Amino acid sequence: MGERKKIALIGAGNIGGELASLAARRELGDVILVDIPDKEGVAKGKALDISQACALEGYDASIKGTSNYADIAGVDVCIVTAGIPRKPGMSRDDLLAINVKIIRAVGAGIKEHAPNAFVIVISNPLDAMVYAMQKVTGFPHNRVVGMAGALDSARFQHFIADELGVSTKEVGALVLGGHGDTMVPTLSYCTVNGIPVTQLIEKTKLDAIVERTKKGGGEIVGLMGTSAYVAPAAGAIAMAGSFLQDQKRVIGCASFLTGQYGHEGIYMGVPSVIGKTGVEKIIEVELTDDEKELLNKSAAHVRDLVASVDKL
Ligand code: NAI
Ligand code: 2OP
Repeated sequence: MGERKKIALIGAGNIGGELASLAARRELGDVILVDIPDKEGVAKGKALDISQACALEGYDASIKGTSNYADIAGVDVCIVTAGIPRKPGMSRDDLLAINVKIIRAVGAGIKEHAPNAFVIVISNPLDAMVYAMQKVTGFPHNRVVGMAGALDSARFQHFIADELGVSTKEVGALVLGGHGDTMVPTLSYCTVNGIPVTQLIEKTKLDAIVERTKKGGGEIVGLMGTSAYVAPAAGAIAMAGSFLQDQKRVIGCASFLTGQYGHEGIYMGVPSVIGKTGVEKIIEVELTDDEKELLNKSAAHVRDLVASVDKL
C-alpha cells in the first residue's frame, strides 16, 4: 500500500465535522480540520471525538484539529466550508459579502501551503465562492471545483424514489445550473432503471418534485434553523474519493465553463468527470428548448453574483 493521502477540511463546523467523520471512516486518508483561532478547540475536539470513534470501529486514519495553515502542507485535497451558513429567511446570495472575504483568506492559506491540492468549495453562494477561490489561488480551473450538483441531484433522486416507492439506487437524476433557486432539474435525464420518469409520474406531481428540489436547501433551513450538513458532506466526499482514487465518476459539479452549454468564464453545475487530475471532462448533453432557456437564466444569475464578487 502506498503512502496515505491527506485531506484538509477548512471549516470545522457542521459540514466540516461530518466531512471528517466520512473521510476517516472511508479511510480516504489522514484528515486535518482547520478553523479560525477562536474555534481551534472545536476543530481539536471534533478530531479527538472522531479518532475515538475510529478506534471503536477499527478504521485507520489520523485526524488533527488546528488553526494553523502550515499544518495543511502537502495535502492532496482541500474541502472548504469556511463561512457562514443560512439562517431562516436568508438566501444563499445574502451570504456573499461576508463569505467572499473568508474565501479570500482561506484561498491565500491554501495557495501558500497546499499549492498542488485539488480544491472543492462548498461555501455559499457556491458558484460565486468557487469563482473567488480560483481567482485568489490562481490554480488551474480543473483543480478548483464546487460541490452542489451532487447534493441537488441526490435531493431530486430521493424525492422521485419516495414518490414511486422504489430504491434511490434505481433513480438517475441530473441537476444543472447554479446552486440556487434557478437550478435546473432536468426531467429529460431523470430515469428509473432506464425508464423515463415522465412515464411513471404524472406531470403535476413531477412539477411539484422539481420545485421541491429547487427549494430543497431552504426546506431544511426552515426545519433545522441552519443548513443541511450530512448530504452536503456526502456529496463532497464522493468528489474527493473520485479524485483520490481516480474513479472517473460522473458527478454534477460547479465546473469552469469554456463554452460548454453556450457559456464561458463562469463556474456552474454541469456533469463532470473527476479523476486524478481533477475535473477531467465536462459532459455536454442535449437539452430541450425549455431546459436551455432555464439554464441560460441560471447562468445569468451566476454572472450577476460573479460581478458582485469582482466589485468587492
Ligand atoms: P458552520 O457555521 O457550521 O461552519 C462554518 C465554519 O467555518 C465555522 O466553524 C467557522 O468558524 C469557520 N470559518 C469561518 N471563517 C474561517 C476561516 N477564515 N478559516 C477557517 N474556518 C473558518 O457552517 P456549515 O453548516 O458547515 O456550512 C458551511 C458553508 O457551506 C455555508 O456557507 C453554507 O451555506 C454552505 N453550504 C453549501 C452547500 C452546498 O451545496 N454547496 C450545502 C450546505 C451548506
Ligand atoms: C443547501 O442546499 C443551503 O446550500 C445549502 O442545503
